Amino acid sequence: MSASQELENAAKVYASDAIRMDNQGQKGRAITLYQKAIESLLQLVQLYPDYKLNNTYVQRAMAYQERIKILQGAVSASEMRAEANNDATGGAATMESDGAAKSNDSEIIVTEHPTVNWDQVVGLDIAKKAIKEAIVYPVQRPDLFPLGWPRGILLFGPPGCGKTLLAAAVATEIDANFYSIDASSIMSKWLGEAEQNVAKLFSTTRRVANEGKTAIVFVDELDSLMSKSVSNEVGGEIRVKNQFLKEMDGFTDKGKNLHIYVIGATNKPWDLDWAFIRRFQKRILVQLPDIATRHNMLKHYSNSLTLSSDVDLNELSRLAKDFSGSDIRDVCQSAQLNLIGEFFESGKANDREAKPRPLTMADFRRVFDERKPSVSLDQLSEYDRWFEAFKAL
Ligand SMILES: Nc1ncnc2c1ncn2[C@@H]1O[C@H](COP(=O)(O)OP(=O)(O)OP(=O)(O)O)[C@@H](O)[C@H]1O
Ligand SMILES: [Mg+2]
Repeated sequence: MSASQELENAAKVYASDAIRMDNQGQKGRAITLYQKAIESLLQLVQLYPDYKLNNTYVQRAMAYQERIKILQGAVSASEMRAEANNDATGGAATMESDGAAKSNDSEIIVTEHPTVNWDQVVGLDIAKKAIKEAIVYPVQRPDLFPLGWPRGILLFGPPGCGKTLLAAAVATEIDANFYSIDASSIMSKWLGEAEQNVAKLFSTTRRVANEGKTAIVFVDELDSLMSKSVSNEVGGEIRVKNQFLKEMDGFTDKGKNLHIYVIGATNKPWDLDWAFIRRFQKRILVQLPDIATRHNMLKHYSNSLTLSSDVDLNELSRLAKDFSGSDIRDVCQSAQLNLIGEFFESGKANDREAKPRPLTMADFRRVFDERKPSVSLDQLSEYDRWFEAFKAL
């Protein structure tokens, strides 16, 4: 075994022991073990400064440090919470009526009120239709779905094609409470308490749903939470994963009439654990835009810009082959920024009445010359392959 592997393994063992002690309320031993885990992680970073996981290691080390501080600071709110949850059978919903715990929600659960609407999501008609069938219609007329309906929806595909945008749009459409969590930060932020906090997140959604509101939990970067490989486990991932599975089963079985949905997004569906894939009954590929969609996106993003009559959106849609929605937005933005930069440098901006010239085709061409699509063709065929194997629309 290489030195780096040895250190990594040591860090894992220390960290998982620390978390176990922590959960058992053995503060002193937990602190010592967290410290050892931190030492191993930092040694690893020092020895291999270019290693790709270093950022994660440093984040983990910092999170352990934070946890040590909390443990040293006598009895803090989070500790009480962790202990209360440990005492409860099964862990979950004991903190519902606890004011102190509720005020902590904001740290843990990000509730957003997105303002994105369907029209701002250009193209993606298949994905939109699938989401309407899975969420919008059942929310409007649950009586028409005697066999139930899917609660888990997986959006997968290349970066920058509208997964996050779609999830936000559906929340606006049905006026749902939207809980957005980013999976990779769950582990570092919720260290040692991660699975209790997953339980808490879902108990909040149950409360909301019991009050007649729809709750959407959006888990971005799902692969970093629910991947097959646990070789990177530094502590707690498996328990968090299991808690998530349990929660998802909870509202598909027991809470049949509650409107709780989990939308997961990932760029790496092939890394997902089968147990998770199965629970996302709808699996939707969010594709790169085709030429017609690119045309609409260019129209959408240049709508607020002043274009010269020589700008040919058809030609631009061709130039934007293999570009994602986010690339296309960036192209429009760059063209405009260059133009405004030029305007300021010419000194004309000092005249408050002066307006920049319209954007020309040459401005756009210049941006395209300096830009490549952000998604590679190899990656694209991987998505297609995975979709063929696991699709569920
Ligand atoms: N279909 C689309 N319609 C309009 N804008 C889009 C679309 N897809 C992407 N964009 C633009 O790109 C930005 C990034 O898109 P979004 O965050 O939804 O991508 P994503 O698929 O979630 O990417 P990642 O996998 O990197 O998280 C959006 O905020 C929007 O400006
Ligand atoms: Mg996203």
